Amino acid sequence: MLVVMADAFDPRFGEAWSGAQLTGTMIQAGSWTRLAIDDDLVVGFTLCRRIVDETELLLVGVRRDWRGRGIGSILMATAATEATGFGARSMFLEMRDGNAAAAQLYHNQGFVEVGRRRDYYRGVDGQRFDAITFRRNLDVAS
Ligand SMILES: CC(C)(COP(=O)(O)OP(=O)(O)OC[C@H]1O[C@@H](n2cnc3c(N)ncnc32)[C@H](O)[C@@H]1OP(=O)(O)O)[C@@H](O)C(=O)NCCC(=O)NCCS
Repeated sequence: MLVVMADAFDPRFGEAWSGAQLTGTMIQAGSWTRLAIDDDLVVGFTLCRRIVDETELLLVGVRRDWRGRGIGSILMATAATEATGFGARSMFLEMRDGNAAAAQLYHNQGFVEVGRRRDYYRGVDGQRFDAITFRRNLDVAS
């Protein structure tokens, strides 16, 4: 996952997690991850966390050379299906403002913008970006 994350996340925005952050979250109760694998190579992943009847999609990433083939969409749809199976009624996620590919993916998957945190992310050059919160209802098919 770390290798995919290093490839997937643009270092300018400082969004990639450290190994300690990843393992610290993955060992928490209610967390789960899924890998997209092509010929023994991990090309994408999701990391989610369930808290009672809500699920948070913490990370989704696809290697650059594997993008635009629907892998991100499959990972997101799988996360939603699994969250529903675990009893979640909604899924939340946060995105850096201006992340056009992620925004398109989330809209396609039925997420709508429900909030914004001003200047939440800080890029490596100190530039600030809002965090946009998206929500998807898991009760209805979308
Ligand atoms: C977001 C991401 C996971 C999408 O993965 P992917 O495998 O390319 O996703 P898909 O192939 O399923 O495509 C999803 C949609 O994004 C669209 N898309 C891809 N790149 C785009 C771009 N630069 N601008 C706008 N839309 C874009 C695709 O066209 C597709 O929409 P469509 O079906 O309506 O055409 C991938 O770009 C990524 O890893 N980004 C870096 C990590 C990141 O920012 N993660 C989100 C925050 S945790």
